[in-house]
Amino acid sequence: MTARTADGLLREATLRLAASGVATARADAELLLACALGDPDAPGEPDEPGVARPGRADAVRLSLLGSEVTPRVAERFADLVGRRANREPLQHLTGWAGFRELELRVGPGVFVPRPETEVVACLAVDEARLLAAAGESPLVTDLCSGSGAIAFAVASEVPRARVVGVELDSSAVGWSRDNLARLGLAGRVEVRHGDVRRAHEHVLRELCGEVDVVVSNPPYIPPDAEPVDPEVRDHDPVLALYGGGDDGLEVPAAVIATAAHLLRPGGLLVMEHAETQAAAARRLAVAPVWDGAHTVADLTGRPRALVARRGVTHSQP
Ligand SMILES: C[S@@+](CC[C@H](N)C(=O)[O-])C[C@H]1O[C@@H](n2cnc3c(N)ncnc32)[C@H](O)[C@@H]1O
Repeated sequence: MTARTADGLLREATLRLAASGVATARADAELLLACALGDPDAPGEPDEPGVARPGRADAVRLSLLGSEVTPRVAERFADLVGRRANREPLQHLTGWAGFRELELRVGPGVFVPRPETEVVACLAVDEARLLAAAGESPLVTDLCSGSGAIAFAVASEVPRARVVGVELDSSAVGWSRDNLARLGLAGRVEVRHGDVRRAHEHVLRELCGEVDVVVSNPPYIPPDAEPVDPEVRDHDPVLALYGGGDDGLEVPAAVIATAAHLLRPGGLLVMEHAETQAAAARRLAVAPVWDGAHTVADLTGRPRALVARRGVTHSQP
């Protein structure tokens, strides 16, 4: 790269990223320039007074003003763009992933939260909010909690909620506990290291029959459906992707079975799945244990989440 103006750097980077198959080339270039503008040794918190790290708006502003950047920034930017062109996930390079109202630290060893999961989290938030409005303090569990994205969104958006996450991968647990401390939610969110399969018999034993909402984005990809995008295939942890069994539904089925033990009668289950799994997921949540199983679409209209209520007239399955 020869240009040193922000505008020139962004133009070159956008062309390079687009040629490498990055669908959001200009946006990625702007976010990477913002990252390069920051101090790599002291990455500030978003909006933290005094040390706020530069954002995309700063990169755009420099570009519009025709401003030059220092050689050090240009060098850092070139390195980041090269890595992104090799299809390292944008969020691994910036170190951050946006999720609803939050920004979470992410990197190698933890699944990067996705926009479609924001709809799943919203369903859990809405239910918890209704309970809170009725004067209750809803108890929510996030099974397969990864970075903690869903758990933290529910807790931050519903101040009366208490949330318990369960995650098997110790690396992901480390990332999520780091986020938990940063977000100041430690009094209301707990991340437990364990297996959601039969979690009602171990890590969540004391919560049986007490939980108001079980929400989950489990691994669900079938074994023969390797993701096409290198960001996913080569960088998301394997444990976060493949659901097990011939159809990818082994862990999701375990989530549903565990949820049946955890939920109080009338409690709500919300679980993400692949768009090809809607009917199969509904078949895993039938009466009398479950009531009203239905599928909810994501923002692009694809059927992506199972929603069902724990039957009110039956105790444990
Ligand atoms: C698709 S990721 C979702 C992470 C997070 N909920 C999100 O939406 O960003 C699935 C997560 O489930 C975890 N996981 C896989 N099998 C599990 C199991 N048997 N028990 C608990 N967690 C599991 C993976 O390590 C991974 O973090």
